Amino acid sequence: MDMEKNYTILAIESSCDETSCAVVVDGRTVLSNVVSSQIDIHTLFGGVVPEVASRNHITAIDNIVNEALKEANKTLDDIDAIAVTYGAGLVGCLLVGISYAKALSFATGKPLIAVNHINGHIASNYITYPDLKPPFMCLLVSGGHTAIIKVDEYNQHTVIGNTLDDAVGESFDKVARVMGLGYPGGPKVSKCAENGKDNIVFVKPNDSLGYNFSFSGKKTAVINYIHNLEQKNLTIPVNDICASFQKCAVDELVDKTIRATIESGLDKVVVAGGVSANKLLRQELSTKCAQNGIKCYLPDLKYCTDNAAMIGSSAYFDVLLGKPFADGSLAPKANLEL
Ligand code: KG4
Ligand code: ZN
Repeated sequence: MDMEKNYTILAIESSCDETSCAVVVDGRTVLSNVVSSQIDIHTLFGGVVPEVASRNHITAIDNIVNEALKEANKTLDDIDAIAVTYGAGLVGCLLVGISYAKALSFATGKPLIAVNHINGHIASNYITYPDLKPPFMCLLVSGGHTAIIKVDEYNQHTVIGNTLDDAVGESFDKVARVMGLGYPGGPKVSKCAENGKDNIVFVKPNDSLGYNFSFSGKKTAVINYIHNLEQKNLTIPVNDICASFQKCAVDELVDKTIRATIESGLDKVVVAGGVSANKLLRQELSTKCAQNGIKCYLPDLKYCTDNAAMIGSSAYFDVLLGKPFADGSLAPKANLEL
């Protein structure tokens, strides 16, 4: 599609526990990206409570949208289209963003763009690296997904490997929870790991999985290890457990991504999703990519976890590739396929 320059999108993200609104120009330039996190609220429950999250999105969304416009120094008249995440995510949470975006689109007459949350995570790299273009291999690591995907074109990809059970972020959260480290677990486990040694073997690598992953077994091995020590009244080496679990998760992610990239003849690896904030993953992947002549792209830390800027970026490429706009019938898709 022929698009005039400075195509300005107002994007909304509310798929989980962040209410966010951003104003993004031409898919690459972020004028504002306001994120209101509910972490403090959900910490009380040890994880995200869907109904509580939906209600908090309702309270927050209007202010967040106004703040994003103000920070971008724009009014609704300056906006070319409204974008919103329609899946995957928590259905009640998605519904809040979708309803708000639909109302805004209806009231202003601006087109509505339905964005896949996963494409959003990948697009966080288009913001961080203005020259990045497909094709590339993407390691997608979030609270809901763990996959190796070949990105053939903007917002179009082929799944090479997937998790057979838990997502890697989810397993970080569960491991943290059993040790009482709090929610979300990823950053807490990573912090403790800095003071620990990776000297515990929880599970041996399983070569039969090909490019697929299994994190549930690793998580269960950690939980059993802790329960065993508790029964014997022994001290739990929290930092060493964190370091060992993190190392075993990161090694598997990195090894399989590198192998898949080499086998596909690609020379670029892009990381996406909340777990891309993990320091060890960033270090190990950069090092292994360099050793294999692969260029490694890591999203700016502020775009790793859920945010609307990445949704605004992905939406732009949907329009560029001629994907039809959404209409009033748009509904949330909790289990939208990768
Ligand atoms: O992408 P995201 O914000 O939400 C989903 O779409 O799922 O990812 C959230 C996940 C949580 O499981 C969180 O524990 C994990 O990302 N995470 C991390 C780190 N920061 C966030 N995991 C490991 N290390 C981190 N530094
Ligand atoms: Zn996400």
